[in-house]
Amino acid sequence: MASTFFVLNGPNLNMLGKREPGIYGGQTLADIEALCRDEGAKLGFDIDFRQSNHEGTLVDWIHEAGSKAAGIAINPGAYGHTSIAMHDAIRSISVPVVELHLSNIHAREEFRHKSMIAPAVKGVICGFGAHSYILALNALSNITK
Ligand code: DQA
Repeated sequence: MASTFFVLNGPNLNMLGKREPGIYGGQTLADIEALCRDEGAKLGFDIDFRQSNHEGTLVDWIHEAGSKAAGIAINPGAYGHTSIAMHDAIRSISVPVVELHLSNIHAREEFRHKSMIAPAVKGVICGFGAHSYILALNALSNITK
């Protein structure tokens, strides 16, 4: 069995496609999941793709990935800007975590410039739309092999 990358998505990402397409693009989360599965297959990893609007659920999934996954690609959505609990969860596991965002958070409102989880992750990718997910999976593959 191939090893697995968890791809975790935070709040409001279930609304992609309808949600501010000028910022986030026209692809739905299901479209992005399909892209991730294709890329995972190319890289030799299974993809466990999930989305939640609830901070505690995301914390539980980070813990679960710590014992099941080879790595985590996470788009934390707005919780990335606020969640000390997710920061602590990432620090509590030893598998590599890559933070990603569709939009360039540094080119947007001031309150998006700060990531609470960035100091706890291996690296951060933002600004490439759905391709940010592909870049994050490749970064994980590169540091895992
Ligand atoms: C986002 C950026 C966040 O600031 C925002 O709250 C999101 C999406 C992105 O992918 O660009 O929900 O994480």
